[in-house]
Amino acid sequence: MDKLTITSWPDWKDYTSFNQEQIGAIDLFNIEVPKEYAKIWKDVSMAVQIKKARTHKLSKDKMLECFKQLIKRPYFLTLLAEEYNCKNIAEVGTAEGLQFYSFAHYLQGKSGHIWSCDLRDVRNKTYTEKYARNSTFCLGGSKRLSEVIDEKIDLFYIDASHQKGAVLDDVKNLLNQQSENPVWIFDDFDERFGCYEDIRSLCEKNKNFMVYRVGDAASGNPNHQVVIFGRILL
Ligand SMILES: C[S@@+](CC[C@H](N)C(=O)[O-])C[C@H]1O[C@@H](n2cnc3c(N)ncnc32)[C@H](O)[C@@H]1O
Repeated sequence: MDKLTITSWPDWKDYTSFNQEQIGAIDLFNIEVPKEYAKIWKDVSMAVQIKKARTHKLSKDKMLECFKQLIKRPYFLTLLAEEYNCKNIAEVGTAEGLQFYSFAHYLQGKSGHIWSCDLRDVRNKTYTEKYARNSTFCLGGSKRLSEVIDEKIDLFYIDASHQKGAVLDDVKNLLNQQSENPVWIFDDFDERFGCYEDIRSLCEKNKNFMVYRVGDAASGNPNHQVVIFGRILL
């Protein structure tokens, strides 16, 4: 299938109130990932995902099936950024830098920047130089990140602590960095995580959101994300 724009995806629906049955299933299988993004995934994430799959005793076939989808998520988020014309991006939870570098790659040749924070620096160092011009890593949590960011943010990607209350803290810490019409993306909107209730309460309050399945994690469990459009109110 040719490269799709997000609005053309049949399962991409607008949900104005929360209803578990309405959860969409974006067909990530049909996205073709450009080779530069696939390379970032292989260099930065593949070893980590193999380790996870082994820990969860996934069969080789199941693992490869998961990987076919996992490799698409970082690029998918750059499509989303493009669709909503997002230039400045903030991420909470950098880890090895898979999404961080994918966003930095998307921003090459654009005027934007990505800021990302983590409590530990475990970034894959292969790409730090390559994207030094348009990316900033900050050691610390979202409060520290908010002090470092010096622009209004168009896209927030919240993917750090899963403990109950942590996502609400991250949002609270970054509220003042919102641009006029930002996009907020929350990973791991699944009942097994402590952040589920936080994200759900944000959806209920802010109404203009979408929930979609991005495939299975390397643990073999399904993984959902939420996008909330516009400035968040707590
Ligand atoms: C799931 S990983 C992030 C993956 C990354 N966003 C990506 O897509 O490539 C979660 C990361 O959040 C970090 N983390 C946990 N609690 C945090 C906090 N309170 N503030 C910032 N980072 C935190 C962890 O150290 C871990 O590296």
